Amino acid sequence: MATKSPVRCGIFMYCIFMFLYYADANTCSGSIQVRAMSDMEPIKSCKSFAGTILISSLPISDLVIPDIQSFEGTIDINSNENIRRISMPNLVSATRISISNQTMLSTLEFPSIQKIDTLTIKKLPSLTDLSFPTMLNETKNLEISETGARGILVLRVKKMSTLRVENNKLLEFLQAPNMKSVDTIYLTENGKGKFDFTAPYLNNVNDLTVKSVGSLSLPSLSTVSNNLVASENSFSSFTLQNLRSVTGGMTIDSNQNLKSTNFQELQTIGSSLVISNNPSLEKVNGFPKLERIGGSADITGSFSELEVSKLNEIKGGINVQTKSERFRCEEVDKFKNEGVVKGDTTVCLSGIKEPKSVLAQPQTGIPVNNKTVGGETNKGKATNTSSTGNKTLLHSDGAKHKINNFDVLCRIMIALIIVYNLYEI
Ligand SMILES: *[C@@H]1O[C@H](CO)[C@@H](O)[C@H](O)[C@H]1NC(C)=O
Ligand SMILES: *[C@@H]1O[C@H](CO)[C@@H](O)[C@H](O)[C@H]1NC(C)=O
Ligand SMILES: *[C@@H]1O[C@H](CO)[C@@H](O)[C@H](O)[C@H]1NC(C)=O
Ligand SMILES: *[C@@H]1O[C@H](CO)[C@@H](O)[C@H](O)[C@H]1NC(C)=O
Ligand SMILES: *[C@@H]1O[C@H](CO)[C@@H](O)[C@H](O)[C@H]1NC(C)=O
Repeated sequence: MATKSPVRCGIFMYCIFMFLYYADANTCSGSIQVRAMSDMEPIKSCKSFAGTILISSLPISDLVIPDIQSFEGTIDINSNENIRRISMPNLVSATRISISNQTMLSTLEFPSIQKIDTLTIKKLPSLTDLSFPTMLNETKNLEISETGARGILVLRVKKMSTLRVENNKLLEFLQAPNMKSVDTIYLTENGKGKFDFTAPYLNNVNDLTVKSVGSLSLPSLSTVSNNLVASENSFSSFTLQNLRSVTGGMTIDSNQNLKSTNFQELQTIGSSLVISNNPSLEKVNGFPKLERIGGSADITGSFSELEVSKLNEIKGGINVQTKSERFRCEEVDKFKNEGVVKGDTTVCLSGIKEPKSVLAQPQTGIPVNNKTVGGETNKGKATNTSSTGNKTLLHSDGAKHKINNFDVLCRIMIALIIVYNLYEI
């Protein structure tokens, strides 16, 4: 008898544990696919859910998921032609929500949401209002593309991994009044040259890519820890008044209206500086404190002046080519003669027809698709429910929920062990 009891005890403890685990009423998990409202029946009174909910081709216009408060896993709502409104009135936190490819969707309601790790909003042309609820203060990845939104307000979030806003043709502004730090910001093809990006307290960014932006206000931005790319923007002045260092490269390319660059505090650029194809830029002069360029300096265009008087080290070569005949190459030659240029190449050409970047090409910025979206896994303890043998089954002790086979087995075993122990005594 004595040899058997540890085994019995082990089974007993395990079953108790599982029992308690599943006895947590209104905690559901699983993977459900919703194609009709009846498919939602099993999650009706779930307060928390772990797993995946896929809602697609649902023939209704108003989708309300009333009870779920916390969600661990993925909610994917895509290709529902008729849905006009999605409402999750009590949802407070969620790991990943993706809403995409719905032409009629005009209203998204998450009034209670505080935390969404990854939110993807894509291909929703009728969605015009995208002011995030005032409660949202925690999100890692936000991807907003191809919506009909006119403005995006990210009110309380302070820190993010990825902010990707792309191809929202009517978008006039993105405001992040409390944002302090973001790993990657990628803004492209928004508005029609009128898109304004404002983040007054943004201090640090790893990668910053701004394309087709109409105006930019980042007065606190102090460090770019990797690359800074500004291309095809319509602003006439590119000003980052507090920027002190760019650890990677800096590209200012193809900005049609750009007349002035203003980087009053910038001291170092870790890799190459590329300025190219800015036809309105007549003076390259907004770098009064720039001392060091860790790569090459490749500056081409139609400017007649280049003023980088504090520059004392260019690790790579220097290439300066301009259409202007008034430009004097002495300044560049001086860099070479004084040993500022450490690389082998020193090129300076003025009054030429087609200035060319030869040392470093303009960077295009980092598309962040692969890096973040899909970069997380569902770590929830109950996300994988394959032990039940039925993927659509939901575990819960709630009266309305089915009890899974394993749970039933555990209960029977507990009963047997109790009976057995009683019998022994
Ligand atoms: C988008 O939704 C439509 C139906 O509204 C569907 O026919 C199409 O295949 C979907 N596209 C994608 C990429 O899922
Ligand atoms: C977000 O707000 C909630 C409730 O106000 C608070 O408990 C939580 O700590 C906040 N999170 C962050 C990251 O500020
Ligand atoms: C990155 O994404 C693109 C398209 O979104 C895809 O073609 C490519 O294979 C992805 N790369 C990796 C490494 O996943
Ligand atoms: C979940 O189960 C599937 C098969 O049922 C398996 O392929 C997958 O790796 C499992 N995932 C985790 C996180 O255990
Ligand atoms: C899973 O359970 C549902 C609901 O009871 C049932 O309709 C379905 O046939 C089951 N699937 C499998 C693979 O057992």
